[in-house]
Amino acid sequence: MSNKPNRFFSHETIEKNIGIMIILSILVISFAGLVQIVPLFFQHSTTQPAEGIKPYTPLQLAGRDTYIKEGCVGCHSQQVRLLQSDVLRYGHYSVAGESVYDYPFLWGSKRTGPDLARVGGRYSDDWHRLHLRDPRALVKESNMPGYYWLQHKDISNLDLKPRMEALRRLGVPYTDEDIANANKALAGKTEEDAVIAYLQSLGVGFIAAVRAQEAAAPATQAVSSEGN
Ligand code: HEC
Repeated sequence: MSNKPNRFFSHETIEKNIGIMIILSILVISFAGLVQIVPLFFQHSTTQPAEGIKPYTPLQLAGRDTYIKEGCVGCHSQQVRLLQSDVLRYGHYSVAGESVYDYPFLWGSKRTGPDLARVGGRYSDDWHRLHLRDPRALVKESNMPGYYWLQHKDISNLDLKPRMEALRRLGVPYTDEDIANANKALAGKTEEDAVIAYLQSLGVGFIAAVRAQEAAAPATQAVSSEGN
């Protein structure tokens, strides 16, 4: 040991010197992070909308804002993982291209309630109305809070234009016409109507596109059972 030349970058020097150890660890982790993360910004599958994905309509967009404001994301995820249990329960796993118009994304990390990525069309609007006002009227053991006040929150005067312009700057393809007509779509609507419109949109376009693909080319059926 003592005969060895005392090189600066020998294992021994690094392991005994916490300062160098920290700097080198940060370098290694940063480099590994960059290699993993940076390519995602350029990959087609993460930057282009998946088949069937359209920008939210004004009413859905307003509903999404209520969803964020009321903290629904604290109990509900919106990401069906590749796990068999997830796919069997909720349907086709989520893909990155489903979220390209989501600012901010609402994947969530907590499932006190079920995942909502595929909830669109699962229930009627009336079911959602009742459920939002009083969840226990429909699901006795539910611990979801009631959001009975949403039905009284009129959004006729909400101005969505600046919101949609900001989204357009981020890459959501709203046309001038979409933006000019946005507020009209909110006339006479409540936050409850908006949240329901948003919930009913979740997963619908993507699943319809997957079904259409399967019908056109049965060989691609593996797409929806992949991950099983
Ligand atoms: C404290 C946690 C909690 C919060 C906050 C919460 N939920 Fe829930 N949610 C649940 C639970 C638990 C269930 C399952 C029982 C039931 O259906 O009520 C559920 C069920 C649902 C369902 C039915 C899903 C299905 O597939 O059956 C929808 C839709 C839903 N919640 C929407 C919302 C919305 C919208 C909000 C915000 C306005 C919200 N939840 C806030 C816990 C929560």
